[in-house]
Amino acid sequence: MSDRSAWTSRVGFILAAVGSAVGLGNIWSFPFRTASNGGAAFLVVYLVAVFLIGFPAMMIEFVIGRRGEQNPVHAFDRIGHGNWSFVGGLGAFTSFVTLAFYSVVGGWVFSYIAGSATGAYFGDPAAYFGSVASGPIAIGAHALFMAVTVGIVALGVTDGIERATKFMIPGIFVLLIGLGVWAATLPGASAGYSYYLTPDFGTIVNNFGSIVPPAMGQAFFTLSLGFSVMIAYSSYLDRDDSLPADGGAIVVINTLVAVLAGFVVFPVLFATGGAEGATGGSGTAFVALAGAFGEVPGGQVLGLLFFVVLLFAALSSSISLLEVPVSFVTEQYGVSRAKGSLGMGTAVLLVGVPAALGTNYLTFYNDVVFNLLLPIVVFLLAAFTWFSGRDIVDELQRGTSLGETFPTVWLWWVRLVVPVAVAVTLYLGVKGLYTGLTNGTYF
Ligand code: PHE
Repeated sequence: MSDRSAWTSRVGFILAAVGSAVGLGNIWSFPFRTASNGGAAFLVVYLVAVFLIGFPAMMIEFVIGRRGEQNPVHAFDRIGHGNWSFVGGLGAFTSFVTLAFYSVVGGWVFSYIAGSATGAYFGDPAAYFGSVASGPIAIGAHALFMAVTVGIVALGVTDGIERATKFMIPGIFVLLIGLGVWAATLPGASAGYSYYLTPDFGTIVNNFGSIVPPAMGQAFFTLSLGFSVMIAYSSYLDRDDSLPADGGAIVVINTLVAVLAGFVVFPVLFATGGAEGATGGSGTAFVALAGAFGEVPGGQVLGLLFFVVLLFAALSSSISLLEVPVSFVTEQYGVSRAKGSLGMGTAVLLVGVPAALGTNYLTFYNDVVFNLLLPIVVFLLAAFTWFSGRDIVDELQRGTSLGETFPTVWLWWVRLVVPVAVAVTLYLGVKGLYTGLTNGTYF
């Protein structure tokens, strides 16, 4: 324990975990998934998924991490269940694959910051996206994004991760609130709000199969669940903090940022054509928003601010994605933090190159993570609770004033409800992946 650097404070941990949770998922993919999946109907399913499935499942990673006090692979050894280490390993692998395409999108954000500053995307947003999304510029920007990520992780938990997120998270909030106030003055505001906030329960029922997998995948992704990230972060945590309280704060703040991003994106979209502008995948998000910034008054400055927020959010997430495999190689093979970060970062860079060569490949990486890896890891975590004994209940209780009841209800909830919900998601997700593979969506 002595050579493991730990969070300097509880707030430091919460902010770093929030930094991991708040990312491209909240500000970029959440509003656009919501827009293309029926608006408020999606929002309702998503919120249910976050609070009833995601939050309890997050507690599983927390108890394993804090009790194990090790990287996600060894944590299972330390709590006496070494044969489950592969689950931590699979989560770390998921982090690795995710960072490979996440960093490509992070690179796009760099290009959009440049494009906002120079006004390059105003004339023809679709052409601009085409020129930066794949090809040499995309590879260069991906490399730049990875370089910054490696730099922060190499500095370590306190000097790098904690310090960086302490500065970025409040910045994200201030900028998003400012942008939300501005967006409220746009002509599309009320139409945007009503699409975003007035759920039509008929839509939910009729589109259950097509809404549930993306809503659930989005819930896991946004909470950084199933990546072993929360195992790694909570391993640096103090014994006497309340895990449910910390987790609750993280989930609430993370949800606020996503919902707030919707308050920016929906008025902007409806000022320039409505939700249809957002359907059709990763690229349209950038094209639709950039196009909207090109049309509204003050769009250049606002666009710049928006993409800077997005960059902060993306970086505070990417460092957590890299931290997981790095903490493993440093502890397992005694490699220095600097070398481990550089080596892993280079590997991620190379694996991400195909995603920077074609958005179809990027979509493939994305769907493998959302539809397959995440539900599998979360399912395995839930399965683990059948074998872990009451230890995890004691760990959840430690540092709280909770009696027996709540932790016991939690145990049965993650044993019974969570796996069923995740199994349904996995089934639908694999079906979607198979369809994509057979109808040529990816290759
Ligand atoms: N939660 C991040 C987001 O919403 C993505 C992420 C997942 C980051 C896992 C780190 C680990 O963008």
